[in-house]
Amino acid sequence: MHSYNLYLPTRLVFGEGAIEKLPELTKGFGKKVLIVMGGGSVKRNGILDRAKELLKDRKVFELSGVEPNPRITTIRKGVEICKKEGIEWLLPIGAGSVIDSAKAIAAGAFYEGDAWDLVLDSSKIKKALPIFVVLTNAATGSEYDAGGVISNLETDEKLPIMSPLLFPVASIMDPAYTCTVPPKHTAAGAADIFSHTIEQYIVMDGNILTDAMCEGMLKTVIECTPRVLKNPNDLDARGQLMMASSFGCCGLLSIGRSPSPWPCHGIEHEISAWHDITHGEGLAVITPHWMRWSLTEKTAPRLAQYGVRVFGLDPKAPAMENAEKAIEKTSEFFRSIGIPATLSELGVTDEHFEAMADHVISHWHPLSAAFRPIDREGILAILRASL
Ligand code: NZQ
Ligand code: ZN
Repeated sequence: MHSYNLYLPTRLVFGEGAIEKLPELTKGFGKKVLIVMGGGSVKRNGILDRAKELLKDRKVFELSGVEPNPRITTIRKGVEICKKEGIEWLLPIGAGSVIDSAKAIAAGAFYEGDAWDLVLDSSKIKKALPIFVVLTNAATGSEYDAGGVISNLETDEKLPIMSPLLFPVASIMDPAYTCTVPPKHTAAGAADIFSHTIEQYIVMDGNILTDAMCEGMLKTVIECTPRVLKNPNDLDARGQLMMASSFGCCGLLSIGRSPSPWPCHGIEHEISAWHDITHGEGLAVITPHWMRWSLTEKTAPRLAQYGVRVFGLDPKAPAMENAEKAIEKTSEFFRSIGIPATLSELGVTDEHFEAMADHVISHWHPLSAAFRPIDREGILAILRASL
């Protein structure tokens, strides 16, 4: 088994009405708080008002308008407020983009230069404001990890920012808060959880415990996503997806096995950088094509295990046959939850594929460590097949 060094300091406060714990959780963290939010969903569904009511003895500042694929320009505005007003802690209320932005703002508040420097080189992060999260979408796992992903439209880049200083202190997770997420983002969030799991599960080796965790995560997504799409107020299914969200990206699913370089994420971030598409949709398109490109006699048994344990395929069938069926089942699942099957349908063209491949090679983890090692030509082949 591989060694591991897992650090997960964030408190997860899950359940209906969990937001009522906000005053108690944030006691002693200071009077001045900056609430970070997106395009208005938390104003419409009343979550912002409830948070402000609970924080009525604090001095509350607001930054709204965080974009999906959050932009460094908005983060700079947040950093400016923090510096000018002496903000003491941050409260992102929203989904992945809002939480990721708060993380960059938290670090930028203590940095003299431009916040984009911290995205380009996270070792420059020496201090960050404490972050408390109110989560409104089951997807990225940003509520329980130390990273974020930030876009820069001037350079057509979307890059991770990562530091143990960016773990939220606590994340408040009320599944009822996700009932208003529209079907497109519910499905995209589910695809993101699915992808986080698959990226860590489809590697050359496994172990009993984390294989079973991954299979449980995948089964949760496959069973609960259609339920919430049919009945958006299915709180049990919303809750199960929200629980799965937190464990996809925090490193837990990788312990004791060979580390994955997350190839689908490396490639998808490029597509989002150039075309501003929804992260989970891009992943759902790429993932089956990456699996197909990776399928060889050597890799078939692992994909076959996935097919047998997650989709109930016949364990006695040959590995290659089950691997192929498992890939087909993966595409079928994504189609069944309403996600387009091709990049073209998402408005992507092949115009920037060469630049995307170059950027993955220069900025992402080395994909030579992938399930089937991927070089520049491999990235281009996966992109072209996904078109
Ligand atoms: O902006 P508002 O009005 O809030 O609307 C949002 C947005 O339009 C809406 N939404 C969220 N909660 C809602 C809601 N609408 C109604 N009711 C609610 N309760 O959903 C839309 C999408 O929001 P976004 O934050 O972009 O979604 P998601 O949670 O999928 O986050 C995606 C971002 O996270 C990054 C992605 O790359 C992408 O930029 N990721 C972050 C990771 C991390 N920090 O660990 C890992 C992931 O792999 C991922 O890369
Ligand atoms: Zn993701």
